[in-house]
Amino acid sequence: MPQMIKNDTLPAEQSVYAARAAALAVRKYGENPKACVVTFGCQQNVSDSERMKGMLVQSGYTLTDDISEAHFILFNTCAVREHAEDRVYGNIGTTKALKHANPEIIVAVCGCMAQRQSVADRIKRSYPYVDMVFGTQVQHRLPEFIYKRLSGGGRIFELSLDNGEIPENVPIKRDGTFKGWLPVMYGCDNFCTYCIVPYVRGRERSREPERIIEEAREMIASGFKDITLLGQNVNSYGKGEPHGVDFAELLKRINALDGDFRIRFMTSHPKDCTKRLIDTIRDCEKVSSHLHLPFQSGSDRILKRMNRRYTRESYLELINYAKDNIPDLSLTSDIIVGFPGETYEDFCETLSLVKEVEFSSLFTFIYSPREGTPAAAMEDPITREEKGRWFSELLRAQEDIAKKNITKHIGKTYRVLCDGFSQREGFMTGHNSGTTEIEFRGGAEMLGKFVNVCVKEYDGALYGTVTE
Ligand code: SAH
Ligand code: SF4
Ligand code: F3S
Repeated sequence: MPQMIKNDTLPAEQSVYAARAAALAVRKYGENPKACVVTFGCQQNVSDSERMKGMLVQSGYTLTDDISEAHFILFNTCAVREHAEDRVYGNIGTTKALKHANPEIIVAVCGCMAQRQSVADRIKRSYPYVDMVFGTQVQHRLPEFIYKRLSGGGRIFELSLDNGEIPENVPIKRDGTFKGWLPVMYGCDNFCTYCIVPYVRGRERSREPERIIEEAREMIASGFKDITLLGQNVNSYGKGEPHGVDFAELLKRINALDGDFRIRFMTSHPKDCTKRLIDTIRDCEKVSSHLHLPFQSGSDRILKRMNRRYTRESYLELINYAKDNIPDLSLTSDIIVGFPGETYEDFCETLSLVKEVEFSSLFTFIYSPREGTPAAAMEDPITREEKGRWFSELLRAQEDIAKKNITKHIGKTYRVLCDGFSQREGFMTGHNSGTTEIEFRGGAEMLGKFVNVCVKEYDGALYGTVTE
């Protein structure tokens, strides 16, 4: 397994802290101090965790998935919905017993939820066994925080959101060996009225194109075959930057790199997604034929209240252009049901859009009020039960669409990246350039390899035969 660690490139000051932390950790815990990172939320968090794992290795820790044997426990949290936060509190609670058994272990909470002052205050008050809480923009200072706590300093609460530089040269310990994440930008300036992300991730900032290309090159050289470019709104990549490289141009430059690999990206915002971007997806052979374009609601009235800044009509125009131009396109989307003030008629507009577009799959959410966002102060007369019924209606509609469309793949041959083991003995799973999963006969030696598969039948999953 390739170890994606760049040992010499941690920002200078943090490298010094890492070396000191490593010495202290060995003194305190013995030869093999262990760290466990538990990640909640979106791919952005998964990617951040990979960077923090790199820093933990640099600070002398071995990574483990078993929280009960860890000397350093890090929760990287998500604040997007209340349910996400409840899960985190539950998980933090379980460390009380571990800390009781071994008071020397360190418990840390970081990420989007930790960035909220009210959460940090609650942890300070009610979770005295949590040693450190730090926000999304100071993650690169992890070695410093570990060193300070190990050397006897007090509890650490560091939430500054100064929208400063993006820390580069942070070591990375990637979870995968052939599928990986590549952040191209951080933060969000869109302020959709329901969403907490702009408050916890700060202003939009793009990485330099050279840095992104360099990281892509490294990933390709160490065997990565499926690279997902990450940002809350990748379409506004490069806005306001002197280099003049926009997202379409960035895609072209990565596409031009040598090697056999696939490029994915998320998330696109319909207000900034252009026909030029769709043309770029069509023209770049390494860019996958998948567009994740969240529309949230099919009602113009609700879209306006959400501050989404596009209309149902303009959204459909983009979708139809993409369908007409990209062969075998997979379309996916996010939807919120029960936004404050949404009526059943508004919801029916969402339902009709889903039926019209026929997405490959959907990520659907019941609206969850987030303190401090404009929508949380809007009147919300519809009960949770009623919203639940609408939600089920939406799920049923999407299930019918998926059922109807799945057989369209039969008879087609796709280039598939083999990425996992099937439940069926002797079979592997893989994905085509879109989001279609196909199963085929094979073994572990196929993992991370591209194979051509002809889809033969649907029997709970799509099954095919390898044609070469
Ligand atoms: N930046 C991405 C998505 C970020 S959050 C985008 O703009 O599309 C992922 C999804 O969570 C959103 O698309 C939205 O559907 C959902 N979401 C965000 N805030 C929410 C809230 N308060 N309640 C319910 N769902 C929410
Ligand atoms: Fe949230 Fe909207 Fe930004 Fe997406 S674009 S992260 S939904 S504010
Ligand atoms: Fe959650 Fe933060 Fe992502 S709030 S969805 S982890 S950006």
